[in-house]
Amino acid sequence: MVEFTLPQNSKPVTGKTWPRPDSARVREFQIYRWNPDDGQNPRIDTFFVDLHDCGPMVLDAIIWIKNKVDPTLTFRRSCREGICGSCAMNIAGTNTLACTKGMDDIEGVIKLYPLPHMSVVKDLVPDLTNFYLQHAAIEPWLQAGQNPEKERLQSPQQRAKLDGLYECILCACCSTSCPSYWWNSDRYLGPAALLQAKRWISDSRDEAGEERLGYVDDAFRLYRCHTIMNCTKACPKGLEPAKAIAELKNMAIARLD
Ligand code: SF4
Ligand code: SF4
Ligand code: FES
Repeated sequence: MVEFTLPQNSKPVTGKTWPRPDSARVREFQIYRWNPDDGQNPRIDTFFVDLHDCGPMVLDAIIWIKNKVDPTLTFRRSCREGICGSCAMNIAGTNTLACTKGMDDIEGVIKLYPLPHMSVVKDLVPDLTNFYLQHAAIEPWLQAGQNPEKERLQSPQQRAKLDGLYECILCACCSTSCPSYWWNSDRYLGPAALLQAKRWISDSRDEAGEERLGYVDDAFRLYRCHTIMNCTKACPKGLEPAKAIAELKNMAIARLD
C-alpha cells in the first residue's frame, strides 16, 4: 500500500564529515547511512577519497573508505566485475553497479544511496526479500519430463532466442527504477522477474510455457507495466526488460485468439 507521508524518523539529516586526506587528488562522496540499531534518523556522511591510493571505480572508493576511514560502512559486493549483481545502488541519481561505474564518469560530488523504494537493511544494503520471492514465483528452472532418454538439444536458432534474457544478473536496478514497481511491488512482478519469465517461456526445452504465461497474465503481475521504459534505461547489462514485457503481453493476447 502506498504511503504518501514519510515518518519523521525516515528523513535523512546531515551526518558526519570525515577527515580529508592530505593528497593532491581527492574525490568527495556523500553517502547515505542508516543503522537499524541506534534509533537515529538516516544521515548523509561526507567522505574524501585519496585517488592516488584507490582504484578507478565507485566500488574501489567505498572499499577504500571501509578499509581506511569507517569500517562500519555497509554495502554488498562480491565479484567486482559486473557478474554477481550484488553491488547495485543508486549512484549520482542512477541505479547501477558500483563495480562497473567509473568515478571519472561522474561530475562533482559523488552521491550514493541504496536502491530506491526498498526497505533498507543498513546503509547501502536494500532488503531484496520481496524481489527474490517474485523471482522464485516465476519458477526459474527448466520444467520438462523427468528422466529423458537423451539430451535436450537446441538448434542455434532456438538457443538464440535466449540472447538478451539469460544474461540478467538479478541486480534489481531495473525493478527499483520502475515507478509502477515503486507503487505496486506487492502485486506487480516488476521488470526483472518478467524478463526471467520471458527467458523460460522462450526456452525450446521447457514444457511449461502455457502455465508460465497463465501465471503472469494478470492485471497486476504483468499489466501494471505502463511502458515507461525506465527499466531498459537503467539496466547495467544493456538488456531490454521493457521489450521482453511487451513481447509477454503480445503472447498473452495471442492466447485469447
Ligand atoms: S517499461 Fe514497464 S517495467 Fe519498465 S519501467 Fe516502465 S512500467 Fe516499469
Ligand atoms: S534486467 Fe538488467 S537491471 Fe534488471 S535485474 Fe537483470 S541485469 Fe539487473
Ligand atoms: S560486485 Fe558483483 S556486480 Fe558489482
